[in-house]
Amino acid sequence: MHVSRRKIFAVVAAAGLVTSGLAACGDGTKDDAAGGDDGKIVLGFAQVGAESGWRTANTKSIQDSAKAAGIELQFSDAQQKQENQIKAIRGYIQQKVDVIAFSPVVNTGWDPVLKEAKAAGIPVILTDRAVDSTDTSLYVTFIGSDFIVEGQRAADWLLKQYEGKNEQVNIVELQGSPGAAPAIDRKKGFGDAIAANPNFKIIASQTGEFTRAKGKEVMTAFLQSNPDIDVLYAHNDDMALGAIQAIEEAGKKPGVDIKIISIDGVKDAFQAMVDGKINVVVECNPLLGPQLMELVQKVTKGETIEKRILTEEGVFTQDQAAAALPTREY
Ligand code: AHR
Repeated sequence: MHVSRRKIFAVVAAAGLVTSGLAACGDGTKDDAAGGDDGKIVLGFAQVGAESGWRTANTKSIQDSAKAAGIELQFSDAQQKQENQIKAIRGYIQQKVDVIAFSPVVNTGWDPVLKEAKAAGIPVILTDRAVDSTDTSLYVTFIGSDFIVEGQRAADWLLKQYEGKNEQVNIVELQGSPGAAPAIDRKKGFGDAIAANPNFKIIASQTGEFTRAKGKEVMTAFLQSNPDIDVLYAHNDDMALGAIQAIEEAGKKPGVDIKIISIDGVKDAFQAMVDGKINVVVECNPLLGPQLMELVQKVTKGETIEKRILTEEGVFTQDQAAAALPTREY
């Protein structure tokens, strides 16, 4: 007799063996409609979009790892729109996939669809970005970076550069997509860390939507209205790379006339550090696929899973870039 994996999950969770706290409260008795009887776990993954090099690497990591683990992947691209992502998740619920994973476009407004997944007995794994739901039983675990720490690391590097100096430092900030956890947290982490020093002033801050095109457009506007920019803090590499073009077109030297701090660590950003155009990159690791597949397997077996799984990351400066570039995986 075929026994649904979600049924196993529901029984084990109700018995308290899954420490995530997600106990299925739906009927939990239906067979795996999406997986059929071929024994394969079916994972529905709702991706944010394809806005950046980081995201492309993240998607590839998930697709490659699903294949390697023998997990059937249903994949959707929300094109940076929450309504598309909710639609995709509802589709996975209807298909009765074994597990749903997603990287939320924004951090608010997820409770209704997460409750629907819970009612259907389908465990949900958050990857990369968190949600603001106070009911943490709506998801099994959250795997990804600490974006506040990333913002702090960016500020720490900057504070060190100006240690012992008393001049005013004019900073412009390219924020990520409005409402996205990395945009909110990277702003906060950086802002809080420089707040104690009145010499550091964020003179302009606007979204560049995590894309090169928008990063360039907004940086062009920043340069037109602010003749005296010392530092650019970009919430991701794509916006920093777009901004470099704007700075060069304005006749200035990126990395020299304007110091550039970026987050992610894609190969193009490492090359820009080698070329002297980006000064420092705070790493944010997109290669979450292998760990995600392990979690998917564990959750379907009803094994214990930590509620928060943190990604380990570093900080890279220009003097480390040439040595690190050949081994960068994304
Ligand atoms: O959520 C991670 C962020 O999303 C990355 O830093 C950015 O490049 C991506 O678009």
